[in-house]
Amino acid sequence: MKVSIVGGGGLVGSCAASALQFGRIVREIALVDVNQDLVEGQALDLLHGASLISDQRIVAGGPELSKDADIVCITAGLRRKPEESRLDLINRNVALFRSLLGDLKKVGYKKDAIVFVVSNPVDVLTYLAMQELDLPAQQIIGLGTVLDTTRLRSMLAQRIDAPPSQVDVTIYGEHGDSMVAIWSNAQVAGLPLEKYPGVTPALIAEVEKKTRGSGAEVIKKKGGAGFAVGASIADVIHAIALDQRRIMPVSSLQSGAYGLSDVSISVPTVVGRKGAMSHIEIELWPKELTALQRSGQVLRETIDKVLKG
Ligand code: 2OP
Repeated sequence: MKVSIVGGGGLVGSCAASALQFGRIVREIALVDVNQDLVEGQALDLLHGASLISDQRIVAGGPELSKDADIVCITAGLRRKPEESRLDLINRNVALFRSLLGDLKKVGYKKDAIVFVVSNPVDVLTYLAMQELDLPAQQIIGLGTVLDTTRLRSMLAQRIDAPPSQVDVTIYGEHGDSMVAIWSNAQVAGLPLEKYPGVTPALIAEVEKKTRGSGAEVIKKKGGAGFAVGASIADVIHAIALDQRRIMPVSSLQSGAYGLSDVSISVPTVVGRKGAMSHIEIELWPKELTALQRSGQVLRETIDKVLKG
């Protein structure tokens, strides 16, 4: 399987490439960027480690590398300023994103390609990609709240001294201020989270608050996310490459689940080779469902404002 990473010269794209290299599942990683020197440098740096890591093809170049890609991952975009919300970022990023989609349309893409949007605000740009590209909606997905979910799980695990891989709580909704942590089914190793040693309502509230602010915190401290967003991207790409049909909080076009329609947002989604293959609707606490629908409304209003003119 070939993956092209548009914006592969940047922090997010190059960390995604490195996670794919260590993941050893995809066959070819093609880094695409307008900054040719930078993207060639990233590819070279990755290639140098190949003999110790994985037998893959690693190349760098322009938009033409996406023509025969099975997955086109778009990470390019301007980064938020620490005090800026993701939705504020949209006006600066829509023009750039439209030009990237124009490049893709110019070189062409496979009819069974998955377009995987990471650029922010990811939910709105995923919806934009659906409007602009001639692909079935299920083949266009966004990273959504996958990164928020791993942040919450990992930081909660550290606080209660549990293995991060066994902390099972998921965030849905907008990858942004209106994201929704679903505590109603939260568990640690199959046990109810609220009964786990050290867990209190105050701790849960504190870690959830820290998760919401993590994007801005990482931008403030080091300029932007890299390692965790790269790992999140690779996890979704591996679910596609292996047709795993795992249930993941990726962003995709909704058609009724949780009362959400005509908006791209994260709900429990079966992810496989064909992209967002189906949505799983489960009973949530009333306040969780209300929050999820509110999140959909926030995104809907932005889409109406920004993308529909
Ligand atoms: C973040 O939350 C990049 O939006 C991403 O850090």
